[in-house]
Amino acid sequence: MVFADRRILLGVSGGIAAYKAAELARRLVSGGAKVKVVMTRSAQEFVTPLTFQVLTGEKVATTMFGPGSEPLEHVALGQEADAIVLAPATANLLGKMASGLGDDLLTTILLAANKPILVCPAMNCEMWANPAVQENAARLQDRGLTVLTPEAGELACGAVGYGRLPEVETILEALARLISPQDLAGRRILVTAGPTHEDLDPVRFLTNRSSGKQGYALAKVARRRGAQVYLISGPSNLPAPYGVERLMVRSAREMLDAVLARFSQTEALLMAAAVGDYHPTCCDEHKIKRGPVELTAHLTQNPDILRTLAPLKKKQVVVGFAAETRDLEAAARKKLQDKGLDLIVANEVNRVDSGFAVDTNEVTIIGKKKLLVHLPLLSKEEVADKVLDQVSALLPPVGKGKSA
Ligand code: PMT
Repeated sequence: MVFADRRILLGVSGGIAAYKAAELARRLVSGGAKVKVVMTRSAQEFVTPLTFQVLTGEKVATTMFGPGSEPLEHVALGQEADAIVLAPATANLLGKMASGLGDDLLTTILLAANKPILVCPAMNCEMWANPAVQENAARLQDRGLTVLTPEAGELACGAVGYGRLPEVETILEALARLISPQDLAGRRILVTAGPTHEDLDPVRFLTNRSSGKQGYALAKVARRRGAQVYLISGPSNLPAPYGVERLMVRSAREMLDAVLARFSQTEALLMAAAVGDYHPTCCDEHKIKRGPVELTAHLTQNPDILRTLAPLKKKQVVVGFAAETRDLEAAARKKLQDKGLDLIVANEVNRVDSGFAVDTNEVTIIGKKKLLVHLPLLSKEEVADKVLDQVSALLPPVGKGKSA
């Protein structure tokens, strides 16, 4: 739980997207964060402080002076938090921040803050395109703040263009990165995820029950910890994780080609994909018609991606996954050796709460010499964190080859 017990200061300025900040506050609180909200005067024209107070269980700060204000809040709030998120950040707020102005509680807090700041602009698309606004956003970025680009779409004013507040999911992930250790910064990590589809004819294929959830969680968490992540995904309905470059493939042979094209430029490969071991020997050009009571399909073995890579391996840390229904550890150890892996993550896939298509997984991580760690049932993101801890320990210092 990346936000558990983290203190987040949410600054809300006056734009129509202020109503979306309520959902952001709710999601942070449900993720375990302690959220303190600061609203500008114009933000209160769109949403009442009471909305945020109910959602966060905390009094909302709105003013430096007068009833309800606390002395020195303008310094303390930005320093007590683990991170600050400004959503929505209006053109006016960007301008004041870029110029170093502090004429209300929020801008004064920002001047005194010494914690990471995530800026989520939202405004009319012409305003966002205005050179002054662009310059202000670039200045904030140059000073080390993280500024998200507004999303494109239809805006509240009816115009269409870049100006929408990024999706709550995107904001949460960008914020998660700001409060996570950056131990994988400078690393290039290749992740595979999902099933493969092996075509029988134009409308039918052989596949398996993988949803992609475990692989996508690895990609998301690796990126959160600072890595540059490339995700090769079999067919999956999951959205590309924020900040991750994704290539969609269908068959095992397409996945092999995609992995081969990237392998030499990566420092770690995590093969969470459930790659089909066979494909129909010939894929019919036309839909196979219903015919005899029994129909035989001939299958040909697919290449084993990990085995193909073994002789090409130089400095990379290579991690396989083993989906097993019995003799979990023994079967996983055999795969670790046969496929020349550094680590294997064994998961039982005949349980309802672990393995395929669920949000949780129970895994054992096995290294070359010894059983490393048996984990309890965890969320797939938590499993990803634990696997990446082991990968991180095996990686050589940035810029050096792997030591023997
Ligand atoms: O996607 P989810 O719904 O979240 O489910 C996650 C998962 C159960 C699919 C995942 O945790 C997992 O176990 N992935 C590996 C599944 C698998 O194919 O296991 P395997 O034991 O058949 O293969 C062992 C390893 O060899 C795997 O890393 C696999 O990617 C790789 N392999 C397999 C076949 C092949 N032709 N080439 C390969 O490289």
